[in-house]
Amino acid sequence: MKVLITEDQIRERVAALGRQIEADYQGKPLTIVAVLTGSLILLADLIRQIGLPLRVALLQASSYKGATMTAGALIINEAFAPDVIGRDVLLLDDILDTGHTLSTLVARMHERGANSVKTAVLLRKLGRQEVHLEPDYCGFTIPDAFVVGYGLDFNDDYRHLPHVGILDGMA
Ligand code: XMP
Repeated sequence: MKVLITEDQIRERVAALGRQIEADYQGKPLTIVAVLTGSLILLADLIRQIGLPLRVALLQASSYKGATMTAGALIINEAFAPDVIGRDVLLLDDILDTGHTLSTLVARMHERGANSVKTAVLLRKLGRQEVHLEPDYCGFTIPDAFVVGYGLDFNDDYRHLPHVGILDGMA
């Protein structure tokens, strides 16, 4: 495993993102909608850096089948989706890759009556985007390699690692 982003770097960056979000959402009805499962750890760390009243909700989106790196059809599970009518939604995902997941979810939040919809990602992969979407908050830009850790998985493993890394042979 090659460590790409250390635990300390993540902590500092997440704290900075939290301060930025706190400044931007003063007095607004903020709902953070996290995309399962990859953004779970980011969600837990980020919300504790935002000193504002906020709601948390979850959505599940999956486009990767098992170990393959080919995007399949996007499956969205809204079983735990929030009532976002009149709310300022901040969609939170682990990584912006092709952009299909977040752009679909942004449209979905508008359809569900959100007052505004912004996006936040821990990582953004260079040179992979197929859909135009500028994340409003982004932790780190990374090269085009398959990464794991801090919520990101390979075959549902490695999510618990405190850093982001590239598995040997996956660069
Ligand atoms: P799109 O292509 O829709 O993809 O922007 C976003 C989702 O794809 C998954 N993804 C990854 N997961 N390591 C992972 O563990 C990666 O390098 C990676 N690249 C994309 C992830 O689920 C993300 O939410």
